[in-house]
Amino acid sequence: MKKICLSIGYPIKHSLSPLMHNAAFKKLGIDDQFIYLSAEVKPENLKMAIEGMKGFDIKGMSVTIPYKQVIMKYLDKIDKDAETIGAVNTIVNKDGKLTGYNTDWTGALTALEKRVKLKGKKVALIGAGGAARAIVYGLTKKGAIIKIFNRSIDKAKQLAKAFRCEYTDLKYLDEIVKMDIIINATSVGMNKDKSPIDKKFLRENHIIFDVVYSPKETKLIREAKQKGAKIVYGYEMLLYQGIAQFELYTGMKAPSETMRKTLED
Ligand SMILES: NC(=O)c1ccc[n+]([C@@H]2O[C@H](COP(=O)([O-])OP(=O)(O)OC[C@H]3O[C@@H](n4cnc5c(N)ncnc54)[C@H](OP(=O)(O)O)[C@@H]3O)[C@@H](O)[C@H]2O)c1
Repeated sequence: MKKICLSIGYPIKHSLSPLMHNAAFKKLGIDDQFIYLSAEVKPENLKMAIEGMKGFDIKGMSVTIPYKQVIMKYLDKIDKDAETIGAVNTIVNKDGKLTGYNTDWTGALTALEKRVKLKGKKVALIGAGGAARAIVYGLTKKGAIIKIFNRSIDKAKQLAKAFRCEYTDLKYLDEIVKMDIIINATSVGMNKDKSPIDKKFLRENHIIFDVVYSPKETKLIREAKQKGAKIVYGYEMLLYQGIAQFELYTGMKAPSETMRKTLED
């Protein structure tokens, strides 16, 4: 009988995790032992879905929008990093005990650190939701200087207070011209040809990281390329957070090149 891993969210249509993890199971010859599925879970069914994880002995679960925070109250244990971030994107079921982890922060850091040393860099972080929280946590650990820009100023303020960084309103985006790294951690651009940043503020010396991975070439990425900026794609964060998830689910070293190929193709 196969061990089940599952992605949940609402909606879940855009998830590339099943493709990536099933390719990895196949590469390691464990596709007869593991299968990765996805399920759309309505908010009123979330608690039952988590109970079902124990009931059906589902080994691992990836949690996406909008459940990364609310899910925490249904788990038996929360890992220290996830607790500090205040969001869980990965659940592991070990002998009926559910532990929540966050692999978004390591995924984002690994993707960024392939391009740039973060210590002392000035970072404009656009967004103050779940992805932004994970990224601020990682950047703070690495000694970057962060300013948060968000549509809802209260959420920016809360996040900035938790991690002792600056914040401001989205209408002051012109400030990003002085920054080294610009990160879009909003959902703007997801399945729509929109960018959260006017291209007149993009510069050749910027490193532009768009966490949105569907489509791969977002409007922001296209315009940043036109300006000659260095790019970090959302799929790279997805890859590295997925590698960490795979290792938590299986206890085996992930076949990273196979996983990368499924996302790049
Ligand atoms: N690449 C990866 O591995 C990875 C991992 C995690 C997430 N993501 C992606 O990251 C994105 C955000 O996810 P999340 O979990 O952080 O979502 P979330 O918690 O719902 O936060 C959404 C953020 O986007 C902002 N926003 C939404 N619509 C906006 C608009 N029209 N104009 C300006 N700001 C807007 C929100 O601002 P307000 O506070 O004002 O509402 C908030 O800051 C999604 O596209 C998700 O797929 C990618």
